[in-house]
Amino acid sequence: MSERTLVLLKPDAVRRGLIGEITRRIESKADWAVKAMELRTLDRSTLEQHYAEHVGKPFYEPLMEFMASGPSVAMVVEGERVIEGVRALAGPTDPIAAAPGSIRGDFGTVVRENLIHASDSAESAERELKIFSPTSDDAPLTRHQ
Ligand code: CMP
Repeated sequence: MSERTLVLLKPDAVRRGLIGEITRRIESKADWAVKAMELRTLDRSTLEQHYAEHVGKPFYEPLMEFMASGPSVAMVVEGERVIEGVRALAGPTDPIAAAPGSIRGDFGTVVRENLIHASDSAESAERELKIFSPTSDDAPLTRHQ
């Protein structure tokens, strides 16, 4: 079933020049397509909405600081089972536990700086896509204050 997911290439991925490599892996999957894409430094309000479920956790503030430390790439990716599929390409949260061949397994070492975010369910995708692209499916991702 074709579906949509929100993917963020985090500031570490952008700083390290991995936008192309990671996007290439996503685009290489049959029938998946990038439908919208934007490079921007995420503001506090966007991050608070995006990470609402993590408020109060010990890693929350350092995570917010890291995520605001430079530009991220936000993209809408569409395709067959893309929600589960991008998470499989990314690998588990801890890059050291992630298998070689996965994005985190190939490029990451630190849990916080794990290169990529991808929605973890249809419900999360719907919620997150609204935060980053509230008005239109195919319009550029618009700022949501
Ligand atoms: P992600 O799964 O995209 O969303 C939550 C993020 O919080 C996660 O990626 C990591 O970047 C970060 N994170 C999760 N657990 C920890 C942790 N134990 N220590 C530091 N950062 C974490």
